[in-house]
Amino acid sequence: MSRLSRKIKEYNEKLSEEKAQPLTACVKTFGCQMNEHDSEKIKGMLINMGYDIVPDYSVTGSGSIPDVIVFNTCCVRENAEDKIFGQLGAVKGAKRLKPELIVVVLGCMTEQEWVVERIKKSYRHVDLVLGTGNTYRLPEYMAARIFEGRRVIGAESEDSVPEGVPMLRDDKFKAYVTVMYGCDNFCSYCIVPYVRGRERSRKADDIIDEVKALVQSGAKEVMLLGQNVNSYGKGKSGDGTDFASLIRRVARETGIARVRFMTSHPKDLSPELIRAIAEEPAICAQLHLPVQSGSTSELKRMNRKYTREKYLDLVSEVRKMIPDVTLSTDIMIGFPGETEEEFADTLSLLEEVRFDAAFTFIYSKRQGTPAASWTDQVPAEIVNERFARLVETQNRISREKNEALEGKALSVLVEGPSRTDPSRLTGRTEGNKVVNFDVDAAVLNERGLNKPEAGDIVPVKITRAETWSLEGVYYGKNAEDP
Ligand code: SAH
Ligand code: SF4
Ligand code: F3S
Repeated sequence: MSRLSRKIKEYNEKLSEEKAQPLTACVKTFGCQMNEHDSEKIKGMLINMGYDIVPDYSVTGSGSIPDVIVFNTCCVRENAEDKIFGQLGAVKGAKRLKPELIVVVLGCMTEQEWVVERIKKSYRHVDLVLGTGNTYRLPEYMAARIFEGRRVIGAESEDSVPEGVPMLRDDKFKAYVTVMYGCDNFCSYCIVPYVRGRERSRKADDIIDEVKALVQSGAKEVMLLGQNVNSYGKGKSGDGTDFASLIRRVARETGIARVRFMTSHPKDLSPELIRAIAEEPAICAQLHLPVQSGSTSELKRMNRKYTREKYLDLVSEVRKMIPDVTLSTDIMIGFPGETEEEFADTLSLLEEVRFDAAFTFIYSKRQGTPAASWTDQVPAEIVNERFARLVETQNRISREKNEALEGKALSVLVEGPSRTDPSRLTGRTEGNKVVNFDVDAAVLNERGLNKPEAGDIVPVKITRAETWSLEGVYYGKNAEDP
């Protein structure tokens, strides 16, 4: 624990004795897996500073207002930002009721000049604003606020590769492990490269050590995270290991049962990585490969650096090497200048590839990106109509892909009781599909088997498909032949 964290903790311990109750902190997370994982680190740092983590807060009664509220923000689309400003405004009342409340804003949004200005002017109840590259310095900022009463807004962020940050992991069996930070791709619609900084990689040995420690504490699955994992090791900070070699090392050297990753960019999905997925039993046969559009002309304007044909070739290569691969993608609708023909190309690509799942987004104008200044924005009615057709097409395909799994036995990492029916269990397949399943008690009894528990990897026979999940039953060791 850092010296500063210890100092804050000692101070907080006295305070909590005086108040005769523990000091609490709540972290609100918006955005992608990167942010979810950053929040695990933020919680770890807050615990070291003497706070108990609470899952939620109320802005109405002083009794339930925590001592610290942290907003870990996302700005990839405008609606995320609007929602965050709304919640930030609502906290103003809580601060009136409890003036000692410390409000912290960090994450991607705060890397934009205009956001910092707006917080300075109109959100005066915010105490601390940090960027994506200096989150690990939270204890310094907290010390400035606690010991000097200072408000620190918008200090310079840096392109860091912090190691040794404490973490409170949300899940014992499944863990996120960041392998690289930042993005250098500059797709013409996307704000991520501006708010997450330049690409930089962690050392392979640090990653291996982290996964080994996770395995020791019971983890069964890790997801290696990076905005563009195929650039792993290529930047200045790399140690010469490329992503395919890294993931092979994770699969072979750590004893982890399952490893998956997000996200690789189609322009540099290497044959070595495809081969690694095909060959290493621990690497899940699953790939998230965002296509964005099925139209070569639109892809060119998006600055994606591949064509429709190149993408389709990649998919057939992947399917040839990994026949049972689960494929998912991201699609964007309403990119500036999108014509009906270009949209039709996207729809036909969905039919041709038949993804298991697609995350579909409506284009959102992001200040500072090249596409924001283009004048041929697509009218909302057209975008909405296209979006509905897209979702309808993909939902049908997703359901058909799931139906094709009926009758098969799949290996499932058990997460625990199903949320909707606690007598059943829920878990995920290698393809990362949710399976809700029954356990046949009579059969278990007869075979002398225990009911599976969270963290077990068991065969489940798929009995029925839904659009976004599967239903199944666990019979024991041999689900093929119940
Ligand atoms: N680095 C990842 C994606 C990060 S953002 C990758 O390139 O695959 C996740 C998704 O958000 C993107 O794939 C894209 O489909 C969507 N997205 C990014 N910028 C957007 C914008 N301005 N409007 C709407 N969707 C956007
Ligand atoms: Fe954004 Fe493109 Fe980078 Fe993904 S690869 S984060 S879409 S700029
Ligand atoms: Fe993720 Fe949103 Fe930032 S998608 S990288 S949290 S802008």
